Amino acid sequence: MPQTDQVTLECESLTKTYYSTDPPTQVLNGIDLAVKRGEFLVVMGASGSGKSSLLYSISGMDRPTGGNVTLEGRELTSMKDPEVSRVRLTSMGFIFQQAYFLSNLNIQDNILLPALKATPKDKAGVVARVDALMERFGIEHVKRHGITQVSGGQLQRASICRALAGEPTILFADEPTGALNSSMTAEVMDALSDVHSGGTTLVMVTHDPACAARADRIVYLKDGLLVDSRELGAWTKEDAKRREDEVFAWLSEKGF
Ligand SMILES: Nc1ncnc2c1ncn2[C@@H]1O[C@H](COP(=O)(O)OP(=O)(O)O)[C@@H](O)[C@H]1O
Ligand SMILES: [Mg+2]
Repeated sequence: MPQTDQVTLECESLTKTYYSTDPPTQVLNGIDLAVKRGEFLVVMGASGSGKSSLLYSISGMDRPTGGNVTLEGRELTSMKDPEVSRVRLTSMGFIFQQAYFLSNLNIQDNILLPALKATPKDKAGVVARVDALMERFGIEHVKRHGITQVSGGQLQRASICRALAGEPTILFADEPTGALNSSMTAEVMDALSDVHSGGTTLVMVTHDPACAARADRIVYLKDGLLVDSRELGAWTKEDAKRREDEVFAWLSEKGF
């Protein structure tokens, strides 16, 4: 475990059981995990191993069945729903496989929406921040486009802007490149590497070894347990190929 003062997000003995099925589905079986401030952590594992359930349980999107989750010293699992929602809105960013943008709003207004909800009194500040983000991630020129008028890669970069607009402490991504071709995947991963170098803590689920190779550390989930982890250290473009090979070999050992 890292030094406590470096840890931003921590979970202990985390369990999750879905009672909507008969018999109930026990998906997380006691997970201990500490994410360091500024770390880029990737979660891997076979389909159905509980990756999304873990991400949702540690991000307050869903309630775990047991155990606790702490973000910057505040225990999410003991908060009431409105307080969890507030923490999610003000301290967390989310990126999914799909952008989930509203089709009646243009790209810019979709990006602005959650941050304006979080800080309605600071409209000018939010708009300036979103402008800077769209510039940084190369989508400034499509800000007035409808969501069907941009590429999948542009849409995911817009999701990244939306996730960062509220200046989150931590960003969660569940298979953010899962619906993209390889050139768009590279485009989105470049953007996420940039987010990471900007100092934002990043927790990403992926099944793509090349995407996982960008991380500082990979943890591997099997049947709802963390069974292995690998420290990769800081990613560089020059080292990308070698790291991909390393991750690929590590995963092959596990039968991934
Ligand atoms: N809402 C739910 N109700 C019942 N079972 C679920 C629900 N969500 C996921 N599961 C089950 O939990 C297991 C883990 O799912 P998930 O966390 O989505 O895994 P992964 O993201 O690794 O593919 C799977 O067997 C899945 O069918
Ligand atoms: Mg999943």
